[in-house]
Amino acid sequence: MPDQLRIARPDDWHLHLRDGAALAAVLPHSARQFARAIVMPNLRPPVVRVEQALAYRRRILDALPAGAAFEPLMTLYLTDTTPPEEMRRAREAGIVAIKLYPAGATTNSDAGVTDLKRVAAVLEAAEREGVVLLVHGEVTDPEVDVFDREAVFIERHLVGLRRSFPGLKIVLEHVTTKQGADYVAEAGQNTAATLTAHHLLYNRNALFAGGMRPHWYCLPILKREEHRRALVAAATSGSGRFFLGTDSAPHASALKEHASGCAGCYTGLHALELYAQAFDGAGKLDRLEGFASFHGADFYGLPRNAGTATLRREAWTVPEVLPFGEAELKPLAGGETLAWRLVAADIGSSQ
Ligand code: DOR
Ligand code: ZN
Repeated sequence: MPDQLRIARPDDWHLHLRDGAALAAVLPHSARQFARAIVMPNLRPPVVRVEQALAYRRRILDALPAGAAFEPLMTLYLTDTTPPEEMRRAREAGIVAIKLYPAGATTNSDAGVTDLKRVAAVLEAAEREGVVLLVHGEVTDPEVDVFDREAVFIERHLVGLRRSFPGLKIVLEHVTTKQGADYVAEAGQNTAATLTAHHLLYNRNALFAGGMRPHWYCLPILKREEHRRALVAAATSGSGRFFLGTDSAPHASALKEHASGCAGCYTGLHALELYAQAFDGAGKLDRLEGFASFHGADFYGLPRNAGTATLRREAWTVPEVLPFGEAELKPLAGGETLAWRLVAADIGSSQ
């Protein structure tokens, strides 16, 4: 078994960086791990217009540690009232994607879309302009069991959406079910999915192992083992339509260890190590580079990165607590030992 793995520098195709002191706390971690990241727009207030996205991009660049080479790829938050013309302006400004949150589906999604019919003209404009649609694929219907919300979203909404806008590139984000992985595998070249490290590593038992564990709570929620296995199979399949998206979503630990705890796992610190653990567990470390470093760039039509990241088989313990402005942040699997460690990131000559 190899003890060292050198891959082309990877990207994170789904990341929450937050703003202000939280941004300053987590950005160095992602900038060490990744060359680029798709930055989620679910701030308060949400990033709905091009000007807001460009200003947010500037704040991210200003918060980067000296010497870091990291490119934030910006997104807009789709609302019922997004003007279709915003898609042309987005493309011209280098904004790569729009994010569809069904209203009420997750953290800061209350300004999201209440009915897909209301955004048909925007999606048509996105299709025309080559802006990618990122989908939080869960229904919000309280009648639907929380573990079924992704599968029901696919049936009720995604199949029709896909048919209505065949030229639109769609990413089903943080796919968590066998139904999601199967759907994407069969949906053709304009449909892809991101997979988080936590959904590859854990099933829903992790939420309750030894007591309720809020740091394993995220949305979409962890699913049964059969789903986890289907996700690992998809991620390690070599298909170019499955790629890395951490969904690293930091919350102050007091807000997770709470009567109504926030959803989100913090993996920005140790994402590559977690993915390496999952791929190693499946005996597919040789597939990590495509998944982490090539498939996403190819799907978005962006150049692959110069530079490399080197992982070494070296046991280390994930810190239990990290500073987070005035608060504390608890990374996923804090205090646990991981087998792989990111030891070097060479940014390459063209970055
Ligand atoms: O667990 C989650 N946390 N899922 C999301 O969709 C949003 C995210 C967040 O922003 O905290
Ligand atoms: Zn997310």
